[in-house]
Amino acid sequence: MEFKQELKKYQQIVDKELEKYIIKADCPEKQLYQAMEYSVMAGGKRLRPILVIATYQLFKETIEECMPYAVAIEMVHNSSLIHDDLPGIDNDDFRHGKPTNHKQFNEATAILAGDALQNKPYEIISQDLVNTKLDEMPKKVRVLQEFAQAIQKMLAGQYVDTQKEGKDISAEELKYIHQNKTGAFLKLCVRIGAILAEAPEEQVQKLTNYAEKIGLAFQIKDDILSEEGNEKVLGKPVGNDKKLGKCTYVSQYGLKRAKEILYQTTKEAIKELKDYGEKAEFLRELALYIQNRNK
Ligand code: IPE
Ligand code: IPE
Ligand code: MG
Ligand code: MG
Repeated sequence: MEFKQELKKYQQIVDKELEKYIIKADCPEKQLYQAMEYSVMAGGKRLRPILVIATYQLFKETIEECMPYAVAIEMVHNSSLIHDDLPGIDNDDFRHGKPTNHKQFNEATAILAGDALQNKPYEIISQDLVNTKLDEMPKKVRVLQEFAQAIQKMLAGQYVDTQKEGKDISAEELKYIHQNKTGAFLKLCVRIGAILAEAPEEQVQKLTNYAEKIGLAFQIKDDILSEEGNEKVLGKPVGNDKKLGKCTYVSQYGLKRAKEILYQTTKEAIKELKDYGEKAEFLRELALYIQNRNK
C-alpha cells in the first residue's frame, strides 16, 4: 500500500477509537467535555498513536491490545497542546486552523480541559488493567510506569522551554529541551508498541534508538516550520518562536544548519531499522514524512 494511503488508514482507525471516549452528557460541566472534544478532534496528524500501532504491528497481527494506550497518549498530547497555547506559555491564538482552546472557550475551561485530558488516560489504562489477565500484568505495569515518566519529562521540557525564553543557552541545553518536551513522548510511543507486543529486549532497544532520532527530528522540523512554514497549511502561527525569543534549532544554528541536522538525524533513524526488512517500511517512510512534512 502507498504510504499516504496507509497513513490515512491509521488516522481513521485512531479517530474512530478516540470517538468512543467523547463524553456527551447534559450536565453542569457539559462545556468541559465539549472543550476536550474540540481539541482532540481538531485534525491532528495522530503521529503518536500511529507510532504505537505501527511498532506493535512489527511483531503482532491484531492491534486491539495496544489501542487503549495509543489513544491515551494522543489525549495527553492534546492536553499538552492546549496548555502550550495558553497566554502563560506560548500565548497562541490558532491551532489546527481554528482558535486555540482558550480562545474558543475561556482560560479556565482550557486549563481544566487540559487537566482532564491528562487524567482521562489513567482512567482508560486502569480500566484496561482491570481487564488484564495476571500473566500479562507485568508488561502493562511497565508500560504504565513509562507512560507516567514520559509525561513528567514532557512537563520538564516545557518548563525549561518557558524559563529559557529570550536567553542564550548551550547546544546541550537546547537538546535537553527538545528531547524532553517532544522526544520523550515519541520514544514512549515506540517503546509501548514494542513492550506490549513482547518484543525481545534488544529489539526494544533498537527501536528506542530509532524513536530518539525521530523525536529530535520532529522538533527540529517543528522549529523550521515555525520559521518558514505556510501558516494556512500549518494551521498554527508562523514566526511565534522568534517573537517569544524561543530557543530553537533555528535560533541556535540558523535555518541551513538546522536542516542539515534534520536530514542527518532522519538518516540515522532509518539506519536503526536496517534489520527489519519489508516489515518496517512504514516506519522508514514515517521518518521521511516527519522530515518532509509541511504541517
Ligand atoms: C505539535 O505536535 C507539538 C509538538 C510537540 C511539536 P504535532 O505536530 O504532532 O501536533 P498535531 O497533533 O499533529 O497537531
Ligand atoms: C510544544 O512545543 C511541545 C508540547 C506541547 C509538549 P512547541 O510550542 O514548539 O509546539 P507548537 O509549535 O506550539 O506546536
Ligand atoms: Mg511551546
Ligand atoms: Mg507552542
